[in-house]
Amino acid sequence: MTDQSLIILGASGDLTARLLLPGLGALLAAGHVPGLQLIGAATEDWDDARWQTRVSESFGFPYEKTRYLRADVTHTDDLRAVLAAADGPPAIFFALPPAVTARACEALLDADLPDGTRLVLEKPFGVSSETAAQLNNLLTRLVPEDRIHRVDHFLGKSTVLNILGLRFANRIFEPLLNSTHVASVDIVFDEDLALENRAGYYDRAGALADMIQSHLLQILGLLAMEPPTSLDAGELRDRLADVLRATHIWEDNPAAFSRRARYTAGSLRSRHLPGYAEEPGVDPSRNTETLAEVVLAVDTWRWAGVPFRLRSGKAIGDSRKEAVVTFRCPPRVPDGLTGHDQPDRLRIGFGPDKLALDFNINGPDDPFELDQVTLEAGFGPGDLPPYGEVLRGVFDNDPTLSIRADVAEQCWRIVEPVTAAWAAGKVPLLEYPAGSPGITDSLLTP
Ligand code: BG6
Repeated sequence: MTDQSLIILGASGDLTARLLLPGLGALLAAGHVPGLQLIGAATEDWDDARWQTRVSESFGFPYEKTRYLRADVTHTDDLRAVLAAADGPPAIFFALPPAVTARACEALLDADLPDGTRLVLEKPFGVSSETAAQLNNLLTRLVPEDRIHRVDHFLGKSTVLNILGLRFANRIFEPLLNSTHVASVDIVFDEDLALENRAGYYDRAGALADMIQSHLLQILGLLAMEPPTSLDAGELRDRLADVLRATHIWEDNPAAFSRRARYTAGSLRSRHLPGYAEEPGVDPSRNTETLAEVVLAVDTWRWAGVPFRLRSGKAIGDSRKEAVVTFRCPPRVPDGLTGHDQPDRLRIGFGPDKLALDFNINGPDDPFELDQVTLEAGFGPGDLPPYGEVLRGVFDNDPTLSIRADVAEQCWRIVEPVTAAWAAGKVPLLEYPAGSPGITDSLLTP
């Protein structure tokens, strides 16, 4: 499709530079959205030349079909001027903090949005199920739901999307993915990145909202959903919504089945890191966690009784990013075979992107002595980086990879009991040194 325009509100900010522009550049370089008109708007006193430099640097090639407009994005008149500069119905990307996004949406109510306008929002969508619902109501007063793209870039990661192919285009895994055969599921995203100067955002979010409430719940949804009959938006998002509606904290007991911690000073890959509480811009009295872990129940016929442990930590020495399906032990191993003490595991790695299957066979030497071996396959990178992939959906008017309104609210509903238990002081804030493995003992042993 040609003659499209993208308006970025919050164009001078960190999100625009770090994720949005590089993703957009990759999409353009791959020949998608030829002739895209790009308009950056923000309060900073920038001119076209300064903005063009930022765009070209992020893209890695010069781009001239772009301009910058100085605007207070919470003022209707300023927004009208930005809209008037767009050729045709724009996609409007809110690269703004949630409270400013809500105010910008209110200001847009009187701005006469052209038919066909799309709204693109970054997480967090609200800060609770109630505020997410309020934001959703506001958004649907502006454009229909299928023109609202709530971006979760994990849904644009080709390895995450590969979960669908792995499960539903093969005979051999799917029949085993249920409570008869699976003992537990772990979805882990432990990063060696620390705060990286993002206190302004992160100190109000924390690991639970930053990673678990958003990205890791989407992975859980893809791993646990019932088979969709097609990958069109309605079908896939219905299946995702079904499974997330059935998901809640294990035994509805957040005090027992959640954990939080933050890093203290330490060294990570020869970098000395200050403790999180000492990082510039952090207010230690907020008690923001940099590691969160929850155990969830997916209360469906297929999954009842199988714990799903979700965990994400920052400043972890050995980063570990994977979903692991641990199978139950075989019902009866013949006497005389030894060495079968490890369960079978299916591991889907999100960096490095690979699939691994651990299982027991007899290795060299004694044929009755079993060893665990691993079959591995690399997933290979996708054509586009995750942001490019989700933006492609925006320009193609395809909301398949966008979070639907009800799902955004459900994801808050799932973690809210944990937030409440933490606020009530029912779960201690533990500590781990930066560069260590984080908190390691298991929260739940099934
Ligand atoms: C972002 C989080 O959404 O995802 C970051 O805000 C996190 O804290 C990042 O580091 C991880 O995603 P990726 O794709 O950069 O590994």
